[in-house]
Amino acid sequence: MNPTAHRPVPGFTSLRSAATCFFISLLLLYSIYSSTFIINTKHDDDNLNCPLQPLSAKQNFQRPDHNNPAPPPPPPPPRNTTPSPLEIRHVAFGIAASSSLWNKRKEYIKLWWRPEETRGVVWLDKKVTISEEESKKLPDIRISGNTSKFNYSNKQGRRSALRISRVVSETLRMGMKEVRWFVMGDDDTVFVVENVLRVLSKYDHNQFYYIGSSSESHVQNIFFSYAMAYGGGGFAISYPLAKELERMQDSCIQRYPGLYGSDDRIHACMAELGVPLTKEPGFHQYDVYGNLLGLLGAHPVAPLVSLHHLDVVDPIFPGLSRVEGLQRLLESVEQDSSSIIQQSFCYDKDKYWSISVSWGYVVQVMRGIISPRELEMPTRTFLNWYKRADYKGYAFNTRPVARHPCQKPFLFYLSSLTYDDKRRQIVGVYSRHNESHPYCRWKSDSPDKLNTVIVLKRSDGDRWLRSPRRDCCRVLPSRRVSVMYLWVGNCRSGEINEL
Ligand SMILES: *[C@@H]1O[C@H](CO)[C@@H](O)[C@H](O)[C@H]1NC(C)=O
Ligand SMILES: *[C@@H]1O[C@H](CO)[C@@H](O)[C@H](O)[C@H]1NC(C)=O
Ligand SMILES: *[C@@H]1O[C@H](CO)[C@@H](O)[C@H](O)[C@H]1NC(C)=O
Repeated sequence: MNPTAHRPVPGFTSLRSAATCFFISLLLLYSIYSSTFIINTKHDDDNLNCPLQPLSAKQNFQRPDHNNPAPPPPPPPPRNTTPSPLEIRHVAFGIAASSSLWNKRKEYIKLWWRPEETRGVVWLDKKVTISEEESKKLPDIRISGNTSKFNYSNKQGRRSALRISRVVSETLRMGMKEVRWFVMGDDDTVFVVENVLRVLSKYDHNQFYYIGSSSESHVQNIFFSYAMAYGGGGFAISYPLAKELERMQDSCIQRYPGLYGSDDRIHACMAELGVPLTKEPGFHQYDVYGNLLGLLGAHPVAPLVSLHHLDVVDPIFPGLSRVEGLQRLLESVEQDSSSIIQQSFCYDKDKYWSISVSWGYVVQVMRGIISPRELEMPTRTFLNWYKRADYKGYAFNTRPVARHPCQKPFLFYLSSLTYDDKRRQIVGVYSRHNESHPYCRWKSDSPDKLNTVIVLKRSDGDRWLRSPRRDCCRVLPSRRVSVMYLWVGNCRSGEINEL
């Protein structure tokens, strides 16, 4: 997605149901039908766009010839030699950035970039000055090719979308050796590099793969597509597919001058190539506003790959800046990248509490018993990208923030993390978030006596080689009322999250 602009916010009333258009190409014998439509908040009379251009004679489509049948599909590539395990050097990152926001956004890149390890390029529109000291912490910086010859006719978007959609091809043309995957992201995307590798390891890089995820916003996915990988959340393209894309991308983007962004242009070309999106739920576009707690507190049982729109949402740790908060989260990533923000549930039956752990980030303690099927649903602490959309506006289930005075969760954010060599476990100290709680009439124990939750866990680097499963969580005995000890790890045989 365009890193300098948010996607347009369409007015619901301006959506016309039958906004389709035809373009009959006289140059060719065949006609092409398009149903791309553009939503406009400003002009109700201007929401129809006909973006498809005639194919040039060079890109003629083959008419099926029954006397001369199409050749059989190519056999899959030989796999007599199993490829070596995927390593960081096999991945080339292409980061779309803009000079106007560079000073702020480069801080996000520095957070996850690993000098001398990660490979890739930041693509900018204009030269920026960076000190030698700083350049050591950042990828190489390049200026994107001139795109003035391409047409761009979308009224809400920006021309930079053209430049950004060509990041994949431009990164490929650099000819880096041993690249298996190209991974694209914006300058406000933070990647968990180990999990990028874990996810991509599942797929054969010699085949065609387009891997990413949709938007959280159902409305966004209707306007763009559920079949599109959102650019800010990041997406991966296997090497042979990137080569195929590079060959046709410039002519492909000429055919869609009316599209909004860079990622919908990539999607349009992928659709022409016939390669579908492979969805991985760990890529996060985060098309939301406000507090990410609901989403980060109830992540799907899949590795966290990326976070995006970090300037748009609140800082993820209260009291810390955006960058400091992400830094703290990445400290947990260092200890156990596989398990970062993996959710597990505990019940303290004596105190009548439900506890939800988002490992390495936050522990939420709630009065009463809330079932796992509810706890695994994100609470709507965040706001929809489309301000008028309600709970129906999401592409997944959510639950409301509890309104009952007794049910407001007590939050304990990670404050420090150490590794206990002797016991070979990670000791996380989560401190109570200082906020007021309404008066509660329930007679059960109040979590307000707790100041600290300590979570013990062993690192579990192989968890994604097994079938996905939540960790189990147990409440350990504690001698102090102000401290609660939790253990999080693999479930024992027969162990379930009992209410
Ligand atoms: C891009 O190309 C156009 C014409 O081909 C030229 O007028 C323009 O100055 C170029 N822009 C840059 C930034 O080089
Ligand atoms: C761009 O648009 C103009 C006017 O609609 C058209 O004449 C021209 O051929 C287009 N250029 C490309 C490269 O599609
Ligand atoms: C919690 O916040 C209140 C009001 O903002 C403040 O008076 C109090 O000292 C804080 N307590 C702690 C432990 O920080």
